[in-house]
Amino acid sequence: MHEYQQIMEAKEYILSKTTVVADTAIILGSGLGTLAQKVQDASVLSYRDIPHFCSSEVEGHANRLFIGMLNGKQIVLMQGRFHFYEGYTLDEITFPIRVFQALGIQNLIVTNAAGGVNETFKPGDLMLIEDHINMVGVNPLIGKNDERLGVRFPDASHVYTRKLRELAQRVAKDMNIPLQKGVYCWTSGPIFETPAEIKMYRMMGASAVGMSTVPETIVACHSGMNVLGISCISNMAVGVLEQPLSMQEVLDTTEHIKEIFVSLVERIVEEIETEK
Ligand code: HPA
Repeated sequence: MHEYQQIMEAKEYILSKTTVVADTAIILGSGLGTLAQKVQDASVLSYRDIPHFCSSEVEGHANRLFIGMLNGKQIVLMQGRFHFYEGYTLDEITFPIRVFQALGIQNLIVTNAAGGVNETFKPGDLMLIEDHINMVGVNPLIGKNDERLGVRFPDASHVYTRKLRELAQRVAKDMNIPLQKGVYCWTSGPIFETPAEIKMYRMMGASAVGMSTVPETIVACHSGMNVLGISCISNMAVGVLEQPLSMQEVLDTTEHIKEIFVSLVERIVEEIETEK
C-alpha cells in the first residue's frame, strides 16, 4: 500500500506547477504517445521531478506528465507508464493513480498495445476492454489497507465503467471507427507468451494479451474512479500466425493506427461527462 504522505507530496508538487484541475487522466501505451501533442496550454512535468514518481526506460515511453486542455476538457496525461517486467513494484507502477485520486480526478482512460488472442481480430484493430484477467498472480492492493484510499475488499463486477464503455462505442460508431470489444489478459512479460499459453488464455475467455493496464485499473477501481480501457491490437498473439513476434512489430502497428486512436480518444474526452 502506498504511503499517504508520499501521495500528498506528489500532489502538492503538481499543484505548485499548474492551476489546471483535471477531471480525466489518460495513460498512453507503447507507441501511442502522440496524443500528448494535442494537449493545449500544457504544463509538462518530468516524472523525475515529481516526488516519488519513477520513470520507465522502455522504448516508446517518454516519462512526462502533461496537464492541460484536450478538446475543451481539463486532463492529466501520462506519456509513458511503468511495467512490472521492468522490475518496479506494483506500488511504484500504480503510484500515479493514487496521485490522480488525491487530485480529485474522476475518470481514468487506460490505453495499451496488446496481442490479439481472438482469432477474428487483426493487427491495427482497436479493442474496448470490457473486463480483465490477472494472470500475474500479484495484486497492488495486497498489504495493509488505508481506508482513506479505499475499502479492503473492492467490488470488481464493473471495473471498466459501463457508461464510459457506452460512450466509447457511441463515439466510435459516429466516427466510423470499428471498435472490437473483449477481455484483456495481463501477463508479466517481458518474454512474449508461448503458443500453449495463448491457447489457454483463449479457452479462459481472453480476447487480447498484454503486459500492463491491470495494476493501474485495480488501483483506480479501489479509488472509486471510472475506468475506460482501450487496446490497440498491435499484433496477433503468438501461435495465431506462423511468424515470430517482436517489439518492432508492436511499434510499427501502433505507428499506423495512432492517428485514428488519437482522434477517438480526443472525441471521447470531449464528450465525457464530468461532475463539475
Ligand atoms: N503479448 C504481450 N504483450 C503484448 C503483445 C503480445 O502479443 N503485443 C503487445 N503487447
